[in-house]
Amino acid sequence: MREHVGPQRGQGEVGGGDQSAHAASDKGWHDSGFVVVVPARTSAHAPDRPSIRVAAYGGPEALQLDELTIGEPGPGEIRIRHHACGLNFIDVYQRTGLYANPLPLALGMEGAGVIEAVGEGVTHLKVGDRAAYASQPPGAYCEARVMPAKCVCKLPDEIDFETGAAMMLKGLTVQYLFRKTLPVGGLQPGDFVLFHAAAGGVGLIACQWAKAMGLKLIGTAGSDDKCQLALDHGAAHAINYRSEDFVARVKEITGGQGLKVVYDSVGADTFVRSFDCLRPFGLAANFGNASGKVPPIDLGQLAAKGSIYVTRPTLFTHIATRESTQAMADDLFAMVRSGAVKIRIDQRYALKDAAQAHRDLEARKTTGCSVLLP
Ligand SMILES: NC(=O)c1ccc[n+]([C@@H]2O[C@H](COP(=O)([O-])OP(=O)(O)OC[C@H]3O[C@@H](n4cnc5c(N)ncnc54)[C@H](OP(=O)(O)O)[C@@H]3O)[C@@H](O)[C@H]2O)c1
Repeated sequence: MREHVGPQRGQGEVGGGDQSAHAASDKGWHDSGFVVVVPARTSAHAPDRPSIRVAAYGGPEALQLDELTIGEPGPGEIRIRHHACGLNFIDVYQRTGLYANPLPLALGMEGAGVIEAVGEGVTHLKVGDRAAYASQPPGAYCEARVMPAKCVCKLPDEIDFETGAAMMLKGLTVQYLFRKTLPVGGLQPGDFVLFHAAAGGVGLIACQWAKAMGLKLIGTAGSDDKCQLALDHGAAHAINYRSEDFVARVKEITGGQGLKVVYDSVGADTFVRSFDCLRPFGLAANFGNASGKVPPIDLGQLAAKGSIYVTRPTLFTHIATRESTQAMADDLFAMVRSGAVKIRIDQRYALKDAAQAHRDLEARKTTGCSVLLP
């Protein structure tokens, strides 16, 4: 049977699947480090479409280019033909199994393209609409897919597909961090915030968004060039955390006062140390694990550091409903349309080169956003 793929059903923090897709039967050519797997065919009706999947957790070499037959959308679903797909660090966690999902696993949680078909009950999209999304379940690294319509939003005409694919997961994340992941009393213009990995995909959006809100963002990054990039995008200060002690520098910058909030996606290497940057009752928000998972924390530390707060949010709680997704997307679209936030795409890869994209992302070679082009 040629493989027929509908949406994977989400579960857990970041979505997973109980895909019924069976193992591919027939191995094809090697290119760009991929094994291309072409399942045997019995039907000639629907065209096969390329999709990147992981059959077993592993390094970038685990990414496999399959040819899949895409079905028709069911109730509450759409079929979208991608013009571009977003690359995100969460894709690495899913590829390695840090975030476990049933295998084989189609990767990717962000994309933009044109609606090809609409299932029963979907009223906010129609065939031919330009659209973009950040969504569970994974499966965006493909030419076309069937997926839940809930998190798919119409893409404003002024925003091109590559920008749409690059900005949804990362931009909606900045949206919920700065609008909803707040210290006691909120944030006011003039407040300092610390944002780790400020020259990355999420980071450069955060630098600009913070500036638009009047916040003084102190960004950390892994090289002087990356620090300059963060400054060029609105960071008030930048610290090279590979060559400088970021805790000491934050104390110096804030005149010993400390911060109301730190936004940390680096995880193991930075999170607990960041507690020392906070003022009493400050908030430490960990939203990623680029350097590894944060180890278990002794709650007594929170008292010792000044009755501080800790949270570990995920975008997928915030976009759990169509209404919340659209409200957040409208805010993001407004920021991008106004020019306050520009989506910087520094890396473009052919879909078949997804393994190279993962290598570059994990090696800290990328800046800003990256897209895969089907
Ligand atoms: N919880 C959520 O809702 C949510 C949503 C979106 C993204 N995220 C998280 O936000 C973070 C940023 O995502 P992104 O896709 O935009 O990635 P990214 O920031 O473009 O890339 C990750 C960056 O992390 C830094 N880093 C520090 N230590 C690292 C290490 N040991 N290995 C690799 N990178 C390391 C690197 O920058 P330097 O070289 O400058 O250190 C690297 O460029 C990720 O941790 C992601 O999981 C979370």
